[in-house]
Amino acid sequence: MRVIVVENKREMGRRAADLVVAEMARHHNPVLGLATGSTPLPLYEDLIRRHRDDGLDFSTCITFNLDEYVGLEGDHPQSYRHFMNEHLFDHVNVNKRNTHVPSGNTMDLDRIEAICEEYEQRIDDVGGIDLQVLGIGGNGHIGFNEPGSSLGSLTRVKTLTTKTRQDNARFFDSFDEVPTYAITMGIGTILNARRVLLLASGENKADAVAAALEGPVTASCPASTLQLHRYATFVIDSAAAGRLQLEGYEH
Ligand code: GLP
Repeated sequence: MRVIVVENKREMGRRAADLVVAEMARHHNPVLGLATGSTPLPLYEDLIRRHRDDGLDFSTCITFNLDEYVGLEGDHPQSYRHFMNEHLFDHVNVNKRNTHVPSGNTMDLDRIEAICEEYEQRIDDVGGIDLQVLGIGGNGHIGFNEPGSSLGSLTRVKTLTTKTRQDNARFFDSFDEVPTYAITMGIGTILNARRVLLLASGENKADAVAAALEGPVTASCPASTLQLHRYATFVIDSAAAGRLQLEGYEH
């Protein structure tokens, strides 16, 4: 695994953007897997700046987001579709028809199952994901693959843990409004991406980052499964790197 430790969030965004831009340059139709949460925001800000100042072109990009809450319409301010429009898609020249976020606007389980299957199919149809961007939950989750998720799982519905709902309650008016279910790419979907780029910042991620990088590969820490990936890169700030024990990480 390649681990790059940088000073702060801003630098994390810049280094991550370098890697995303390099990946975009490798393909005629780059397929990017994208993540939500506060962590990737510096990355998206940097990409928007490069689009504005340097003409970075997103017109041929295809994107797939990791996950979406179940029970929120796409225009709900806390839906991940809304998040992506607001923080990236509305500010660059990506064709919105080429941006995919699982649709969570139904509570019908049969329909949700079909949505999950279609999502996997669409990823396959474009030849798979070239680069998957990830954040990490305080409990080591990636996407919404909570501890205990099957290592081979594909896109499906998951029940969110109380910790995840509490962590994400800051974006809602109250804890009770945080959805209980989400559609998420599986760990298998993520491991199928040709490259993976995990970002983490802040001391509250230090335990999860240490478990992911230096702990055993275990479903108890879904991010640790990235140790099985051939091209996984972590770009983390020094606070998130604070509990790492091994030496020799890149700076
Ligand atoms: C949510 C998302 C994850 C994200 C995590 C961490 O649970 N489903 O993809 O990594 O939050 O969020 P943050 O970056 O805000 O700490």
